[in-house]
Amino acid sequence: MSRFEKIINRKGSSSVKWDLTKTVFGRDDVLPMWVADMDFLPPEAVLEALENRLKHGIFGYTFVGDKTAASIKEWVQKRHGWDIETTWLQYSPGVVPAISTIIQALTVPGDKVLVQSPVYTPFFSLVEDNDREIVNARLHYHEGRYSIDFHAFEESLKTGVKLFLLCNPHNPSGRVWKKEELVKMAELCHKYNVLIVSDEIHSDLVYKHHTHIPLASLDETFRDMTITCIAPSKTFNLAGLQASAMITPNADIREKIAGVHKKQGFFTLNTLGIIGMETAYRHGEQWLEEILDYLQENVTVTKQFIEEHLSELQVVEAEGTYLLWIDCTKLDLSDDELKNRLLDRGKLALEPGTKYGPGGEGFVRMNIACPRETLMDGLGRLRTALS
Ligand SMILES: Cc1ncc(COP(=O)(O)O)c(C=O)c1O
Repeated sequence: MSRFEKIINRKGSSSVKWDLTKTVFGRDDVLPMWVADMDFLPPEAVLEALENRLKHGIFGYTFVGDKTAASIKEWVQKRHGWDIETTWLQYSPGVVPAISTIIQALTVPGDKVLVQSPVYTPFFSLVEDNDREIVNARLHYHEGRYSIDFHAFEESLKTGVKLFLLCNPHNPSGRVWKKEELVKMAELCHKYNVLIVSDEIHSDLVYKHHTHIPLASLDETFRDMTITCIAPSKTFNLAGLQASAMITPNADIREKIAGVHKKQGFFTLNTLGIIGMETAYRHGEQWLEEILDYLQENVTVTKQFIEEHLSELQVVEAEGTYLLWIDCTKLDLSDDELKNRLLDRGKLALEPGTKYGPGGEGFVRMNIACPRETLMDGLGRLRTALS
């Protein structure tokens, strides 16, 4: 039996996914397959390191040391073939706060920020909450596959965009952008003098026959105009430990980010986050290989089930991430009807596609990072709701 088959009760553990369904969906009798975390234990080595640190017992002021920085550098080199300097690293409790910090560091109120919808919800809210303006170059969707509409992309840049928020791998479409696509986006950004935030939080969760390429690794020019955000949170299921890193080769940009951190009074990560991050990057690779196989199998099982029992639905091919983006448009239901059917009939909590901006209508996002028994339960509920 795979170690990932074990069902662990997360209710009552202050889990957003399991304990906030009443607040978010209005009921607590639903199976939660929404928020992007996993129902699996992290690597054993991480648990041991955390336990040992707890036994030490003193939790005074701390800092992110050279050993932790080295573990990040080695991981990025080993997994993604990008040779970074530890001096390029800055830290943030999460990628979401990191993006907000970067927006504040590199733009001023009223500036335009480019996104590609449908995309991770905070890409919109962080821009708007910082009083910047969204420019949206919608992705092109055709026969179950997303691609970049480069005409729309360039036209958007021409409106005076200052910053581009790239999601690679892309949530929710599951696309892992290819080299040609990355080069073309970066070249256009360079042409129009636009800086890039490359949110690569899902970069370790990429399936066979696909390769994640850090945009900033492609070329020195792209490198100097890009801030790359990474974290162990999705990869190793450590979101509650609140640790992430920004990789910023350009010293001027780094200084601006440091300036915002200073204003925020932000100094460092928490003790357990630092230990979790370092241990996962140092000792988590074997676990990651195993979980990728398990997740890949979950993707296959889900696709087969839907083809067999819900043939009007189309699962968009996931090249990466454990988030499946499911096209329900052929059902011809309004988004409210879709939501109500899932909740009332299916007792299933999925993310509604409308959360991801224009282009998300008629879609749902399903998190399949759970034991297969839970997945089958969820798929049964999906069938009850939509067949
Ligand atoms: C693309 C993307 N960025 C950032 C995050 C969240 O980052 P954090 O929890 O580190 O703030 C998520 C979580 O789902 C995500 O999908």
